[in-house]
Amino acid sequence: MYTKLVLLLSIVAISVQRAQVAGNPIGGAVFSDESCRKTGVLVFYRIKLVTSWSKKLFPKHYPEFRPPPQWSMTFGQTHNDSFQLFQLKHPASVPIATFAETGQAASLEESLALRQDLLFDEFRLPKIRKGKGESEATFFVDGKHSSVSFVTKIIPSPDWFIGLDSFNLCSRGRWLEKVTIPLHPLDAGTSSGLTFTSPKWPTNPRGLVERITARYPLHFASSFFYPEIKHLPPIAHVMFTKIKEYSNHNNVHKKVKKLKHKQRTKLLKRLNHQSSSAATAALNNAGNEILSDKDCRVGAWSDWSPCSKTCGLGKRNRTRNVLQNHRLGGVECPSLVETQWCGSARQCSESDSYFRW
Ligand SMILES: *[C@@H]1O[C@H](CO)[C@@H](O)[C@H](O)[C@H]1NC(C)=O
Ligand SMILES: *[C@@H]1O[C@H](CO)[C@@H](O)[C@H](O)[C@H]1NC(C)=O
Repeated sequence: MYTKLVLLLSIVAISVQRAQVAGNPIGGAVFSDESCRKTGVLVFYRIKLVTSWSKKLFPKHYPEFRPPPQWSMTFGQTHNDSFQLFQLKHPASVPIATFAETGQAASLEESLALRQDLLFDEFRLPKIRKGKGESEATFFVDGKHSSVSFVTKIIPSPDWFIGLDSFNLCSRGRWLEKVTIPLHPLDAGTSSGLTFTSPKWPTNPRGLVERITARYPLHFASSFFYPEIKHLPPIAHVMFTKIKEYSNHNNVHKKVKKLKHKQRTKLLKRLNHQSSSAATAALNNAGNEILSDKDCRVGAWSDWSPCSKTCGLGKRNRTRNVLQNHRLGGVECPSLVETQWCGSARQCSESDSYFRW
């Protein structure tokens, strides 16, 4: 029975579909890794975690109660390649170990607050209160922060979790449209328990983050030790689906990247706030410059146009006119159109599921 299941699961294991993006206008298959990295690009993804911890797939020590099988809140982060939430075969950081032992993310959050320059968006998936279930959330990545990592604690367990380390959503220059990745239990290496419900004996010295397999830990008492099968079936799958790709004015986006992103609504709020304060600053600077009569002169900005979206993230723009064209030797005209992000998840009515564009 196992062999069949394993076979089936490995067939569906990885399916990556790439965008049917319109061809390169210049022609030819120019395929540089840089094309998702162009400035001003912001991409919105859905993450869906589907867990399959059932008595049928994992009969050994299947915890029937106190507590029954379940999954903690999932903590995730998008980031650039200089950051790692955890790494296989390396010791877990203290905050990751704490999360693997308790399912609490407070110290993880605290430690990440110091690394905001490498990080972009943070997301959380609600707990799954059964062994088999699903949970989802959405997050942003951009051209400079295209990797995603997350962790979910296996409950009950000593320090076991599932997760993904630095999965890059930009592949061969394209943002992945849809990708499904099988997940296996991991051991944070901080607690010596072999079974789901064994008491937590601290491991001294701390071990490494290891993938738990049908043969590892090599011990009959291990809850995942199944000598009769070669590979454990995945205990969960994670799916990433691209919802929307945006491009916008570089300056606005530069501001956005510097921000700390706790929640999507905060992100949207700040997108607006920052871009308008950037615009104000630019305007003030322009006012301080001494203009010669050879320089271009422009009028005041118009009001902002209505937001292009009434629910979710949209764009709006404002314009200004040339009052005097520049003459030889004078300063050329600045940009006459300015675009910024607008909208907010809060404007979506409760019945709308978040961000249905
Ligand atoms: C990640 O971001 C930091 C801060 O902006 C930067 O110093 C670092 O070089 C970036 N890493 C990569 C691999 O781009
Ligand atoms: C500005 O916004 C208006 C209304 O949304 C749109 O019709 C127009 O094309 C936009 N202009 C530019 C230059 O983006």
